[in-house]
This record gives sequence, structure tokens and C-alpha cells, in this order.
Amino acid sequence: MTIDQKVRKTLDELGIADAPGVEAAFAEVRAAMQAERAALIARGAASESEREKLCKDLRDRWLARKNGLLSAVDEKWLKAARKELKPSVGKSFNNLRQESAALEIAALARDVPLRKQAEANGGIPAGGSPPMAAQMYRETPSDLTLPGNRRALGTLHPVTQMQREIEEIFLNLGFHIESGPEIESVYYNFDALNIPESHPSRDDWDTLYIDSKTVLRTHTSPVQIRAMEKYGAPLHIIIPGKCYRRDNPDASHSPMFHQIEGLAIASDITFADLKGTLDFFAKRLFGQKIRTRFQPSFFPFTEPSGEVSISCIFCGGEGCRVCKESGWIEVMGCGMVHPQVLRNGGVDPEKFSGWAFGLGVDRFAMLKYDINDIQLFFQSDVRFLEQF
Ligand code: DAH
Repeated sequence: MTIDQKVRKTLDELGIADAPGVEAAFAEVRAAMQAERAALIARGAASESEREKLCKDLRDRWLARKNGLLSAVDEKWLKAARKELKPSVGKSFNNLRQESAALEIAALARDVPLRKQAEANGGIPAGGSPPMAAQMYRETPSDLTLPGNRRALGTLHPVTQMQREIEEIFLNLGFHIESGPEIESVYYNFDALNIPESHPSRDDWDTLYIDSKTVLRTHTSPVQIRAMEKYGAPLHIIIPGKCYRRDNPDASHSPMFHQIEGLAIASDITFADLKGTLDFFAKRLFGQKIRTRFQPSFFPFTEPSGEVSISCIFCGGEGCRVCKESGWIEVMGCGMVHPQVLRNGGVDPEKFSGWAFGLGVDRFAMLKYDINDIQLFFQSDVRFLEQF
């Protein structure tokens, strides 16, 4: 039975009595519709007027209000359907009707090629080509010596660019790059770093726990311990990587962000080395005019601990909106590695001393590129990203 005959019989006459049967019948109609459309596209038309006629014929065959195949489906299958089959027939018919939009004349004409054009491009004999060849032919460029379509090259993400720039400065100072797992044990993330059980950062409102012994690392500091265990002392490393905290996203917070940790351990390291290195780093990154300021602070894994600020890169220290009129911008935490932390890493604090720092790469990138919302980094909006 042809599809034309089928749609002119009722479902009862066709012996279709359940929903799967209905679905199969509609699938057959849909397949016929798609096949006829594909055949016309493969065939192409010899002229605009022939194309118009062919498209109209196919459209009318399926969509004409009187005697069109879809009208027949409506009359014979839907309207005449038994009550219990109505819902499934109705649903399938709606889908079919939506898909049949591809048979409207404009939609067809867009896709049906003119064979004349193909010939002008280099000569397929009119009417003589099999459908497949005609289609492939259309995709062959006429002059293979012309340059191809170039895809625009992307750029590195601004956070990656910032990370690489910082890495470069420390690599030139003789530091190595180390990395560690983002899924970290509570031991490395907290205990080994001297962060006591009672510390607020360990609360599950601040930290994303995987289970009671495993977290998404909240900072890159745990890699200090891992690296000491692995390499011993002396050691000069930086540790870039992703960190996670249970923060609601806003202009300055993101539950995922990036840090770079620094760690230097040797037999005669002092706070003066720390100050000199970080001052050199800040000047390399932001320019020779930048000054650094060290203020006392507290971190459980360093003693003494400090907070580093740089003179405001926007106003030069005069006071502005960004530095909140203070002339300084706080950029990282640092300190002399706590003797217990050295011990936890297997390094003898009687023989070795060290300093460490931790900075937020996203925040550095925001400063450097004058961006006021950290969310922009993670929204993948090309209009933002292509500016870098
Ligand atoms: N881990 C600290 C944080 O995420 C940052 C930090 C402070 C790292 C001082 C250090 C340091 O190595 O010495 O807030």
C-alpha cells in the first residue's frame, strides 16, 4: 500500500488499535515526507521557474487544505480515531504538522539548488547527473588555488594569561612549577597546615566536603606539604591551580577560583628574602614605580604572617575608588613557614627555614585588566573574552 492509499483509510481499516501502532504509522508518514523533500533537493531544478513549480507541487501534495496528504491524515486518522486512541493520534499529528513546516515553499526553495549554477561553476551535464553527484559537486570550490575560509584563532583566557605571566617571573627566579589534586584530603588541606579542628574555615558552610575526610581544596597550600614530602629541602616552587569555597557568586566571589602559592625552603632563608622577592615580583608585574607594604597578619601555617599590599596601580597611591582612598591594594598573604608545618612535611626546622605566599590569580587579572566583576571570567561570553 502506498502512503497515499494509507492516509485515506481510517486506523480501524488499517488494523491499528494501540499507541505503538499509531506511532509506527506516523513514523512512516514522516519518513515519506522527509524522503520526498530530500529527493527534490538532490534532484535540483534547471531554472528558477522550474524550482518554483517543483516546490509548489511538493508543498501542495502534502499541505494543500483540500486533498493534501496531511488533511487526509487529519480526516481519516485523527477525526475518525476511536476515543481511546485520540490522545496519542493528536500528539503524533501535532508533531507531524510542526515538521511539515519544512515543506512550505520558501523553506523548500532555500534548499533546492539550481542545476544551471552548478554547471556554470564548471560543468555537470544538465539533467545527466545522479542526485548524489550533484550534491557533492555543489560543495566543491571552483578554484582550489583560492585561500580557504580561515577560522578566527582564539586567545588564551585572561586568567590563564595572568597565571602564565606570574609563572614566568618566578620561573626566571629559579622556581619550579608544582601541582596537586583539587580533590584533597582533610589532612593535607587543614591538619598538616596546622589549621585546628575549631578553625571556622573548616566548617561545612565554608568548605565543600565530598565526605568527612575529603574536600575540594580551599587553597593551594596543601601542595606545600605534598611537595616537601616528595622533594624534601631545599625547595623553590610555585603552585598554580583551582580552588573551591562554598561562596555565593557575586562580583568578588566565585565558588571556583584560582590561586598561586609560593614556597621557598633553604638553610638560611629569612623574612628579608620574602620581602625582597615579593617586591621584585610586584615591580616586574605592575611596573617599577609600584611599592609594596607588609603588615602583620595571621595564618596558622606561617609565623610570623603578613599581608602584602601594593601601591594603587590606578591612582599611584593618591587615593581613588579602587583603593578606597587608602592608596594601597591588598594582594596576598605570606609569612615564614611554621616549624610544625615543616615538620609535617618531613623537613627539619632546626636545619631549614622557609617562606610562603598565596595570591588570587583572578583578583590579579581583575586588577591588571580593570575588571570589576569576577563572574565575567566564567560566563564564557565571547564578547568579553575576545578583548584579551
Ligand atoms: N592559603 C591562604 C588562603 O587561601 C593564602 C596564604 C596565606 C598562603 C599565607 C600562604 C601564606 O602560603 O603564607 O587564604
